Amino acid sequence: MADILMETKLDDLKFLKRGKVRDIYEYDDYYLIIATDRVSAFDVVLPTGIPDKGRVLTQISVYWFNQMKDIIDNHLVAYQVEDFPEPLKKYRNILEGRTMLVKKAKPLPVECIVRGYLSGSGWKEYKKSGTVCKIKLPEGLVESSRLEKAIFTPSTKAEEGHDINISFEEMKAIVEPSLAEKLKDISLSIYERARDIAEKKGIIIADTKMEFGLIDDKLILIDELLTPDSSRFWAKKDYMPGKGQDSYDKQIVRDYLLTLDWDKTYPGPELPPHIVQKTAERYREILKIITS
Ligand SMILES: Nc1ncnc2c1ncn2[C@@H]1O[C@H](COP(=O)(O)OP(=O)(O)OP(=O)(O)O)[C@@H](O)[C@H]1O
Ligand SMILES: [Mg+2]
Repeated sequence: MADILMETKLDDLKFLKRGKVRDIYEYDDYYLIIATDRVSAFDVVLPTGIPDKGRVLTQISVYWFNQMKDIIDNHLVAYQVEDFPEPLKKYRNILEGRTMLVKKAKPLPVECIVRGYLSGSGWKEYKKSGTVCKIKLPEGLVESSRLEKAIFTPSTKAEEGHDINISFEEMKAIVEPSLAEKLKDISLSIYERARDIAEKKGIIIADTKMEFGLIDDKLILIDELLTPDSSRFWAKKDYMPGKGQDSYDKQIVRDYLLTLDWDKTYPGPELPPHIVQKTAERYREILKIITS
């Protein structure tokens, strides 16, 4: 099996923070964001990693950042080790393929989610109230229904625990109303373009989450973009509304965990090798489909 990178230790760099998936260091005016092979499920980072997952996430993000450049600038400065500053090159073995050197931004405290299909927490809310993030939707939709028009459904960005869906009005109390409008327009444009590109490759992007940040007063895209960790990707050929769809992500992990008697709090359980292997295959498969 390929090597699995769970944690990094780059001795002479300033360690900033360990997210659920990414280790972040500071270098000069930049951040070095390393996507490890950690996997989280139900907001718990598991003790077992998925080989190549970090590389898949980084390469998919880089692909999409490039596709969206004329819509909005992003934080990416370099992702090939040979383009990194000299002192970083000695970490090539760790960094290669999974690392972005990025501009430091001030992350906005909202997550910008766009949904083109009814799934996950959106479907849950619709079943209860006929709405998603308080947006009234037509009656008679079923699980995984395609929405006539994609909708913008922001959420809070919780430091710990689960993010909470909010209405656009509530979002306008968190970021300035004019900025909220801008985030909504850009998010929808990105989703629509990605949806059209993916559609040609036989992939449905059911929904996706984006993060934005400010550098001085300039708005840019940060974090990851349209990856299997931030989006639901479905195979078009298997799409069938009226039920949940298989997605190209850690669903295999989630399904496995649901067979256990685990209360979804730390520490999470180890994953058996066949689950790890199947999940790794799914991640590699979607990278290939999207970038080829
Ligand atoms: N260019 C940037 N400038 C500042 N912060 C950034 C930038 N790009 C990404 N980030 C932040 O770095 C973190 C990425 O780490 P990671 O994805 O592992 O976090 P996380 O624990 O998954 O958090 P979340 O679930 O909110 O994504 C996020 O908090 C993101 O907001
Ligand atoms: Mg993240």
